Amino acid sequence: MALTLIAGTAHPALAAHVAVRLGVDLVPVSHERFPDGEQHVALRRSVRGEDVYIVQPMSSPVDERLMELLLLADAARRAGASRVTAVAPYLGYARQDRRKAAGEPISARVVGGLLQAAGVDRLVTIEPHSTTLEAMYPIPVLMLTAVPALTEALRASIPPDAVVVSPDLGAVRLAERYGAALGLPVAVVRKQRVSGSEVRVQAVAGDVAGRHALIVDDMITTGGTIEASVSALIQARAVPPFLVAATHAVLVGPAEERLGAPHIGRVWVTDTLAPRFTRLPAQMVEAGPLLAEAIKRLHAEAALDDLEART
Ligand code: R5P
Repeated sequence: MALTLIAGTAHPALAAHVAVRLGVDLVPVSHERFPDGEQHVALRRSVRGEDVYIVQPMSSPVDERLMELLLLADAARRAGASRVTAVAPYLGYARQDRRKAAGEPISARVVGGLLQAAGVDRLVTIEPHSTTLEAMYPIPVLMLTAVPALTEALRASIPPDAVVVSPDLGAVRLAERYGAALGLPVAVVRKQRVSGSEVRVQAVAGDVAGRHALIVDDMITTGGTIEASVSALIQARAVPPFLVAATHAVLVGPAEERLGAPHIGRVWVTDTLAPRFTRLPAQMVEAGPLLAEAIKRLHAEAALDDLEART
């Protein structure tokens, strides 16, 4: 069974990088937009009997990326692919993994069901918002971690007295993985989300006074969480400038301005999403090598434990 790669339109450069590392050509795909806005895709070569991987991070506009991924999966399935794997390094709707109030859906679960219905056999993603995702998806989910790649990139810039800071309770496990990799203690900011773009900090738990800090998160969206964490750290007498590392640079709205604030030093992100910024002083860490290695091992049915984000 041949290994076959298909690129959605969300991040062609990342798909091309993975294709080069795997030594395969991308399947030619035609994309068309109907006058009413509907997407139309068509695979331009046969994938019959092949082990197909579709690379499509769910960047903004998320629903369009998701729909295109569903259409590509259905196309591959109907063209006789033996196995279809969705490779969505950044997974949309993953934050909506529980009902916070009556009347809400569990959107992450809905997306899992859609992927399965379109013929996706399994999903590969990087640092999803929560590892509970695995339990709510009806298909197997391989959750990779970019922490080793990020810590390798930033290690030399971390002062020995630094503390790793989780900007909320949800990122504590992630912060612990950074802490373990860098040999640093972990502190936690308790935040309360006021709206989609505003957060309020309640307290900092842990010893940060007089220390430098590396704030880590799975994603930076509007930058509100990082901004609020910086204020909390200053109040708690940590030493700026603070370093920041995040896997997914979603970066919408005021993110670029917020991350350019004077108390923020270097920022490291990966290229799971196509870069949206021009001025941000961010160091980009490639996600392609991790994705290529995971796809290679999945295709070979080899072990992946050392690449996975389990907690
Ligand atoms: C939410 O809990 C996530 O882990 C991130 O902290 C959040 O998505 C960041 O969003 P923003 O940058 O808009 O504060």
